[in-house]
Amino acid sequence: MISQAIIEELKIRCPIEDVISSYVTLKRAGSNHLGLCPFHSEKTPSFTVFSASSSFYCFGCGAGGDVISFIMRAENLDYRDALEFLAKRAGITLPDDRARDERGVSRKRLYEMNTAAAKFFRSALFESDAGGEARNYLTRRGLSQAVIRRFGLGFADGEFGSLRDHLKSCGFTDEEIIAGFLCKRSEKNGSLYDIFRNRVMFPIIDTSGNIVAFGGRVLDDSLPKYLNSSDTPAFNKRRNLFALNYARSACSEQLILCEGYMDVIALHEAGFENAVATLGTAITPDQARLIAKYTKKVIISYDSDDAGQRAADKAFRLLADVGLDAKILKVEDAKDPDEYIRKFGPEKFSELLGRSRTRFEFTVSRITSEHDMSNDEERVKAIRRICAYIADLPSSVEREIYSAKLAEMMELDIENIKRDIAYTIKRKKAEKKKEDHDRLIRDTMGISDRVNPDFAKRPLAARLEEAVLGMILSHLEYLSSPVDGKPLSSDDLCTEFGKKLFSFIKDAHENGGFEFGQLSEGFSQDEVSRAMKLFLAREKLLDNGPGVFSENVRRLRENAVSSGDGIDDIARLISKKRSE
Ligand code: UTP
Ligand code: MN
Repeated sequence: MISQAIIEELKIRCPIEDVISSYVTLKRAGSNHLGLCPFHSEKTPSFTVFSASSSFYCFGCGAGGDVISFIMRAENLDYRDALEFLAKRAGITLPDDRARDERGVSRKRLYEMNTAAAKFFRSALFESDAGGEARNYLTRRGLSQAVIRRFGLGFADGEFGSLRDHLKSCGFTDEEIIAGFLCKRSEKNGSLYDIFRNRVMFPIIDTSGNIVAFGGRVLDDSLPKYLNSSDTPAFNKRRNLFALNYARSACSEQLILCEGYMDVIALHEAGFENAVATLGTAITPDQARLIAKYTKKVIISYDSDDAGQRAADKAFRLLADVGLDAKILKVEDAKDPDEYIRKFGPEKFSELLGRSRTRFEFTVSRITSEHDMSNDEERVKAIRRICAYIADLPSSVEREIYSAKLAEMMELDIENIKRDIAYTIKRKKAEKKKEDHDRLIRDTMGISDRVNPDFAKRPLAARLEEAVLGMILSHLEYLSSPVDGKPLSSDDLCTEFGKKLFSFIKDAHENGGFEFGQLSEGFSQDEVSRAMKLFLAREKLLDNGPGVFSENVRRLRENAVSSGDGIDDIARLISKKRSE
């Protein structure tokens, strides 16, 4: 763990308002600052930076924390890298033990190990007899020597111990090899065996040039077609993109987002070096944010099948959420961009790019293709669906423009379209209100609480626990102040989350001091946000004095010995919440 002193130093040198103003335009509001939340899309600012406590909280989406958690979210970094990032900004050097994660495996070692593995795979591809078949396969698929080398492709042979023996001879430990997802331990005899066998290997390289993971493709029709590294201490598939290391310097104008490794490689080969792909999952919000760091415009270039088109819908949504302008191209007479380029060549693909469509055009053509537009009833259904789509657009200018387009396309009076849309918006508002109300009840009861699932079991005690934890976060001295003879202990708390949070704070406090930033090391971002919420909930109240603290601890303890929260308590909580 990085010491509290260093975190304090970092925070002093990186004032939270300064750091956040490089991402968000902040306006002063009393002693705080207010801006548009960078973590969800909103039109009125609910993202607040609290100068006094050096923290932020978004009242819209619940993201919150200190300057370290902010950087983790904004730059897509883990805790260590966020500290590095801030240290660099402040011009200080972190002590050297930084690289070890809790399992005792260092990221740097994993990078080195992956590099050794990639070299091993590469020489197997080019120099071994066993690699002959893989060489033929890649040539058959039209890849040139140059592009094979550029992407660092390789071959994992069919043996169970080739890579293992090589990595061991390079000095990597069993622990490191397992943590890096290159070998697994056999349940039968306890020895390590290679995970990737008989596959063409695609290294996945991050934007700093580290090999962070591998994808491996079979040479025939066997399954699974691709095997990808699971997440490791050096890799998170939801935060990386294939080929972004190359595309980043070629995509300032636009970026091409594909589904497959082979699509990206074919595009690069054909001169489209701005192509990237997700890593075996649908696009994630983290990946959308990552893309937004490098470009303003994305062309979605997914497979032409149904699954591809459905995935495109989600991509449009996530890309719009981070403010990217997105269009989609349709590969015609081929299943994916790779096959298209092989069949028709790069010029034709360029034309496809030029003909790529907006989300509106894409949605209209998808919906109208699903209805028989010569039949009145079906036509009405289709138009209704399109109106529902328009009603969902956040900008009224967009709604106006697309309403006009739709009216023109369907040869209808625009006033009718507008009325339908206004009606849909009204209905959706009513639905949302009901949903909000239901959610409030669920939240009050804790049923939908992912961060603290125990809340539901003992809502009353859990509420007291939250109050107590919130006060401790702002008054660390309460950790040691006795209430009725003994200080609060984790046995007094009633939820796993509460116990974990309490123990962490207490531990840190007793070993050199607690800093909010340390939470990011042991807790997920959602959990850190929750802790911030508890803290703020108390900060807002006037009285957090020792008397109030003691009283809450006392009630919490009483609650623990009593039979707990019955159904009556829950009913009481709901009616209280309703009247608030
Ligand atoms: P595709 O099946 O479209 O692969 O899956 P592709 O890249 O076009 O490969 P070829 O042309 O058949 O060789 C798209 C992506 O989905 C992930 C991979 O990242 C792949 O590139 N995938 C697919 C897997 O992770 N596992 C699988 O079994 C299949
Ligand atoms: Mn393909």
